[in-house]
Amino acid sequence: MRPSPLKLEKLARLYSTPLYVHCQKTILQSLRQLKQAFRPCGGEIYYAVKANPRLGILRLLRKEGLGAEAVSWGEVQLCLKAGFSPRRIIFNGNGKTEAEVLACARAGVVWFNFDSLDQWELLEWAGKKAQKSLKALLRVKPEVPSPTHPHLAVGEKGSKFGFLRSELPGALRALKKARFATLAGLHSHFGSQILSAEPFLQSARFGRRLFEKIRSQGFAMEMLDLGGGYGVPYEKTDRPLNLKKLSQGYQKIFQGFSGRVVFEPGRFLVARAGILLTRTLSIKKGPSGNFLVVDAGMTENLRPALYGARHEVVLLNRRGRKSRFRVVGPVCENSDSFGDFQLPEPKRKNLAVISNCGAYASSMGSTYNGRPRPAEVLIEPKGAVRLIRRRDATASLWQNEI
Ligand code: LLP
Repeated sequence: MRPSPLKLEKLARLYSTPLYVHCQKTILQSLRQLKQAFRPCGGEIYYAVKANPRLGILRLLRKEGLGAEAVSWGEVQLCLKAGFSPRRIIFNGNGKTEAEVLACARAGVVWFNFDSLDQWELLEWAGKKAQKSLKALLRVKPEVPSPTHPHLAVGEKGSKFGFLRSELPGALRALKKARFATLAGLHSHFGSQILSAEPFLQSARFGRRLFEKIRSQGFAMEMLDLGGGYGVPYEKTDRPLNLKKLSQGYQKIFQGFSGRVVFEPGRFLVARAGILLTRTLSIKKGPSGNFLVVDAGMTENLRPALYGARHEVVLLNRRGRKSRFRVVGPVCENSDSFGDFQLPEPKRKNLAVISNCGAYASSMGSTYNGRPRPAEVLIEPKGAVRLIRRRDATASLWQNEI
């Protein structure tokens, strides 16, 4: 998404920088692409709230008919606030607390995944206490290779998430005793930012086979939740995910399947729809290299520091011969760097756009170095700009201090 430089200049003046700018049209376009890809297999979409939990975005996606995937009572409450029915929320997580599970059960959340038998016992306990029937999704590791950053590959043998296939017989024996949290499906998210269709299809084949096997053992299996992970191109050399191949593959795999197929995309829906607007604070050239210091840093987008991710940087209203600059933030860490870019000669106070910041940027933001969180705006399809989150007041840095 690329609003005009003039519009960005105006936004920067109105809301100050750094500023997240999200584009509704791009979110809806990405949603349309995924709906189209999942339609042939009857897949339902539950948005992974962690990618971007702004209420303005949650409300938009709820109105589009999506469910929500949440990983804490905090996220569940955000979803409820955004108007999601509790029956359309899946509560995932490998370490849920008693208080969280009980609060969710009382609020009417029905679907919960579990990663270990003691976490399933927690669901039983909460179901009994709240006098509610809960539906439990057993998380399995599909053990498919996930071609992504090691931090984001979670379907492999050593991952903290889910059960290995070899552990299932014992687990299923225990689950036969369920009274309040009955086994009603499988969950198998295996990684994030994956750009090749094949591992998704492998995981789906694995899931269907296992689902039917468990059903044949007398469990009332309803839902096969395949998680998210659908990647977007960040770098110029990244090839986009082949949605046609994915769609055709899913269609084939789920022919004659009688359960509900659920997907939990986060990034794909929102990453490309958001930019981080920032202003140049300093231009330093010398024997150490060329540095362009901007007013956004690892506090607004941790992805480069955490995963070595590359988010393209574009200087607004500058042309001409390019030279190499390391674009860095003002945070006191060497890792507070967006990487090296070929850029035209910048001016001080030059506006710059850091691209693909709609997912896992503001949601992973922090106030490190005493930096209040930026404002966020959503550009509506006809161009109107809506402030969806105010900039934090500086006083928020100490308001809970005693
Ligand atoms: N479902 C589950 C159970 C998940 O753990 C995740 C992401 C998703 C769905 C959504 O995955 P997505 O479609 O967004 O790839 N902070 C990292 C991403 C961490 C993803 C964690 N789980 C990043 O900035 O790349």
